[in-house]
Formats: sequence, C-alpha cells, structure tokens
Amino acid sequence: MKKITVIGSGNVGATAAQGIALRNLAQQVILLDILDGVPQGKALDMWESAPVEGFDSSVIGTNDYADTSDSDIIVITAGLARKPGMSRDDLLHKNAEIMKSCVEQSAPLSPNAIYIIVSNPLDVMTYVALKTSGFPKHRVVGMAGILDSARFRLFIAQELKVSVRDVQALVLGGHGDSMVPLVRYSTVSGIQISELIPEDRIEALVDRARHGGIEIVNYLKTGSAYYAPAASAVEMVEAIATNNKRILPCAAFLDGEYGLHNTVCGVPVKLGSEGIEEIVALRLTESEQSALNRSAHDVTSNIAKLSI
Ligand code: 2OP
Repeated sequence: MKKITVIGSGNVGATAAQGIALRNLAQQVILLDILDGVPQGKALDMWESAPVEGFDSSVIGTNDYADTSDSDIIVITAGLARKPGMSRDDLLHKNAEIMKSCVEQSAPLSPNAIYIIVSNPLDVMTYVALKTSGFPKHRVVGMAGILDSARFRLFIAQELKVSVRDVQALVLGGHGDSMVPLVRYSTVSGIQISELIPEDRIEALVDRARHGGIEIVNYLKTGSAYYAPAASAVEMVEAIATNNKRILPCAAFLDGEYGLHNTVCGVPVKLGSEGIEEIVALRLTESEQSALNRSAHDVTSNIAKLSI
C-alpha cells in the first residue's frame, strides 16, 4: 500500500504504527497527533530503527492533516483512555467529540480510505466514524473482537499448558462487559474446549476475558492496554493491505445481520482490500443470540445518548 495513517500517537497509536512499519505494510506510515512534537519525535525514532529492523517504510510524524492526504487506510486511536474505576462508557462524550473531529478532518482528504477504529467505547466510536465520514459501511470497521478473542485464547492456552498457536476462540458482541465469548466456537486444534476444560473453569476464563481490559488498567493505573490492542489493529491492517481475506471478529455496522439493526457490534467478517467484504452469518443458539442482543442493546443505548 502507498500510505497508512495512524491518528493518535499515544501508546496504542505509536505501537500500531511500529507494527505496520515492521511488517512493511505501506510505503509511508503517517503518525498524526495534535500534540506538538510528539508524533514527530516518535515517528523519527521509529524510522531510525529501520536499518536495524530491516523495513523500508518511511515513518513521518505530523500535526497537519494535509500530510494524511490519499491514505489507503486510516487507523484512529485518538481519545482518552480509562483510568481505574472508569468503564469504557465513561469516555463516551469526550471521545465522540474527538472522533468526530478526526474524521471530519481526515475523510475529505482521503475519500477512498478504509477506517479502522480503535478508540473507546469502541463500537459507538465506530458508529460515530461511519456517520461522520458518510463512507459506505464496508469501509469503516472497529477493532475489538480480535483483542477480546486473543485474551480468551491466551487464557485457554495457559489453562491447558498448550501453545497459543493451536487455540482458536471467537468473541462477539460489543467491546464491553457484556461481550459474548462463544465457547462453542472455541477450540484447541479443532477440539472444542468443553471437551478439555471443566465447565466452571471455562466460566472463570470467560469472566477473565470479559474483564481483560480493566485487569490491565488496574495494573497500569494511568492508562490502558496497548500491546495487544495495537497488535490486533495491525492484524486488521495487514488483512486489508495484503487482501488476505482473513475471517476475523471485528466491529461492523449491522443492518439486519444477526437480527440487529442500525448498530455496530462485533461479528465475524471477511477482511480484504475492500474492507469488510462479508459479514459471516453464524447460527447461534437461543442463549448466544440473547447474549448478543443484550450486548448490542448496550451499544445502541450509548449511541442514543449522542446527537448523531
Ligand atoms: C482494552 O480492552 C483498551 O479497551 C481496551 O484493553
């Protein structure tokens, strides 16, 4: 790809920009922030690692949206992060303003871009980006399911003392406490985890995955997770940049899929050069569907609090 922009040069944004550069996913990686000097300094530092790391992308930091013109992908990480005691929803109003401003300034300059939204509350911010940009729904996608599934995968691997590489898991729904880890679709080399782990332990792992974000916030105290969130965003960038058609759980605008309307929620999607190329329909059990409905309801009621 020619150009990938990351908006927000905090921990998630900078780590994502580095991941994009390390994987050589674009000729130019632009790191934009409103803070004077921070994106410039981090980007130059990153670029100076190129001879050692062996990547050819240029990495440029800026405060000027003009430098983002004609981006193929724009990753938005800008916004406040949680502190202990805060839910992702506490960030709603402030981050919605920030998201609107980022999209209003970047969308006209990159009318063909695909947005990957990372700011919290994730599903609502993806909705805000979609509505503000006026872009078609397949070109605005949110990062959360990969992160939530990665946490669940790690906890399963730790429980069984097996390689994380053999563990697959699927977490759907909104990126909040009501997210929906699908135990039925969680496997180790194709074996359902219910064959391998007792029910009460699975419940404990599900619960830990649901609260994986706050577990990190409570350790860090001044911010939230960034290595795993950034890695998850980079996986989406790679799927789009290389058109590899991965099936990944991502936040997508739903217009009847899964019986949900006019909302954004985590579902399995096929990601390729067009963005969301397909929303994969799964047949859910009654209890899975009602958990998904509850989770989507949480997202929808937050969307309703905003004037968009
Ligand atoms: C998390 O789950 C920050 O929401 C992000 O860690």
